[in-house]
Amino acid sequence: MAASAQSIQYVEARKTWLLTTHDSSYAMAVGADGALRNLYWGAPLWRADDLPAAAPRRDVSSFDPRQMLENEEFPGWGGPRYYEPALKITREDGGRDLVLRYVSHRMQNNELDISLKDINDPVEVVLHYRVYPENGIIVRSATIRNATAHAFTINSAQSATWNLPPGEGYRLTYLSGRWAAETQINREPIHEGQKVIESRKGHTSHNFNPWFAIDPGDAGEEHGRVWFGALAWSGNWRITVEQTPYRQVRVTGGMNSFDFAYRLQPGETLDTPQFFAGFSADGFGGASRLLHRFVREKILPGGLTSRTRAVLYNSWEATTFNVTQAGQQALAEKAAKLGVELFVMDDGWFGKRNNDRAGLGDWFVNPQKFPQGLKPLIDTVNGLNMDFGLWVEPEMINADSDLYRVHPDWVINFPGRPRSELRNQMILNLARDDVKEYIFGVLDKLASENNIRYFKWDMNRSFTEPGWPEAGAADEQKLWVAYVRNLYDIIDRLRARHPKLEIESCSGGGGRVDLGILQRVDEVWTSDNTEAFDRLRIQEGFSQAYPAKIMSAWVTDVPNQNGRSTPLAYRFLVAMQGALGVGANLNKWTDADSALATKMIALYKRIRPTVQLGDLYRLLSPREGDVTANQYVAADGKQSVVFAFRHSQEYNTAAPAIRLRGLEEKALYKVEAIDNKLMDRQPQLSGAYLMRAGLNLNLRGDFDSTAVILERVQ
Ligand code: DGJ
Repeated sequence: MAASAQSIQYVEARKTWLLTTHDSSYAMAVGADGALRNLYWGAPLWRADDLPAAAPRRDVSSFDPRQMLENEEFPGWGGPRYYEPALKITREDGGRDLVLRYVSHRMQNNELDISLKDINDPVEVVLHYRVYPENGIIVRSATIRNATAHAFTINSAQSATWNLPPGEGYRLTYLSGRWAAETQINREPIHEGQKVIESRKGHTSHNFNPWFAIDPGDAGEEHGRVWFGALAWSGNWRITVEQTPYRQVRVTGGMNSFDFAYRLQPGETLDTPQFFAGFSADGFGGASRLLHRFVREKILPGGLTSRTRAVLYNSWEATTFNVTQAGQQALAEKAAKLGVELFVMDDGWFGKRNNDRAGLGDWFVNPQKFPQGLKPLIDTVNGLNMDFGLWVEPEMINADSDLYRVHPDWVINFPGRPRSELRNQMILNLARDDVKEYIFGVLDKLASENNIRYFKWDMNRSFTEPGWPEAGAADEQKLWVAYVRNLYDIIDRLRARHPKLEIESCSGGGGRVDLGILQRVDEVWTSDNTEAFDRLRIQEGFSQAYPAKIMSAWVTDVPNQNGRSTPLAYRFLVAMQGALGVGANLNKWTDADSALATKMIALYKRIRPTVQLGDLYRLLSPREGDVTANQYVAADGKQSVVFAFRHSQEYNTAAPAIRLRGLEEKALYKVEAIDNKLMDRQPQLSGAYLMRAGLNLNLRGDFDSTAVILERVQ
């Protein structure tokens, strides 16, 4: 019998649901006691009738109650449950016991809502499930509702608990880092106890990214079972991975319960962030490709209809704060000659912004630097056939600003306590609606009065002293949530008012990269570290969760971070693996540099749809060996591009043959080298040969690189 076309099957007799995508199935059922339990998560099933009833387990001992062995979908903190709860509350009378039971459900197309309620009072939770059958993704979130007559405070509000098939030997893969060293890959065994990745910094943060992958200990880049998930939240988040003493691995994620207290009045609700998850039988590479496709098609604004990312120039590393009309115009003229399509003026154009000690908050054009406003520069840029982009950092304020002199109360603060300044700046309290409206007004005005195609939205510090005195003691911790909601609201309204406006999310590099912000921006600044060799690893980590299309990558001058110098071709090829930009001081470039850049940008435009919209195969990792290789295969299979980099050759050793992936065995491909480093001289090669024998590249010395383009001929 063929697999059912239905993405959600329901068996009334056993109150069982089977959610199925192209790549995975997920099942749960209501037990005789009314608890909702997970039954299955893994490779696709097609028959809901195969699933067992959610039978209750027996207590093992008075210390090992049955509840600890049952895989509840959304456990409240109550009764004998000692693992990480999905929901914890405190009632006005101090009562904290919460035991959730099934009430009803609603199914429509690919969506399922299951309502739960506490055994005593109407503390209600609606669990939302949505299946994306073609993408292999399921999303979960929860709405918590106070249907009681009294207020209660939520102490922990998670989006979902994901239970893995019982067993041991699992490994966790996650991304950690710091400023200029984001998205470093960690892979470690899961042992009993908890592993927490989180942000307590108010934004997504450089330190951990809200993504995980779990495998049974034997998956590789292209083989083996991998369960993965990503949270859509740009504030304080937390993902807890725990193995119970009963060999059960559970992943619980949502808003961070640290410093969390969210009071719900009768009738009020709280929605938790969306937690997307999937399963791949094709290793970490397969998991990434599922997420990449999903992000491009279902997360990013415009989805498949949005345009590929333009090649941009950004002035930051060339000029820092020293921007002037003449200086920017000169750079724009040089950038246009290279083939740049979007010219972005970075920090320094507004208020008294000559350094990082002043100006944030005063979003009016600096009259000394731009005596006639932005129009002459924008006209020049547009006249050169480029769009114009502008840097803003709307959430921030310097003490030395007109705005702070008028509105010191707009800053996040605890009265009477120090207001920590980081990079000499404080944070405006976006949770306040007056502040939100002010910021929206500033940006709306800028976008209305100028031909701005693109905002680079920066955020250069984390939260401290997160006080909101006007909200009152019982509600001021709502700031963690209200801030993010209002940030999202500003961006959503801006986009609605200016449909052509594009936005880059930057937070001192990659401090705000998650599926929540990606639902409303077009690309992200991956890292302030633009040094090409470091970038290989940052980009490898980034690509675990996020597609090349949104991975902004600039070619900058050397020496850069670490004092390292790499050849210009190497820097281009590294950056061409994402959304290409140039951030160098073009005034210092030689004619030879400009000629190479022009050639590379033209090449990039030819392969751009393949890189930005194709499937990524990470062939050789920069964490292993001295050769890194990545391959992109176009969605229609007609073009493929291979990028290869050598760190440092030793003992005259030849680079290993690079075996490709994702091609048609029987097809023939025209092989085109961009230089003389391809040793295979046959003009055409079969898919079988390319995938089994591989390409031989003459990569020598330090920081050598090349690219090979394959065009399918039959
Ligand atoms: C941090 C960003 O990551 C940089 O690209 C640049 O925009 C600076 N801020 C400007 O202050």
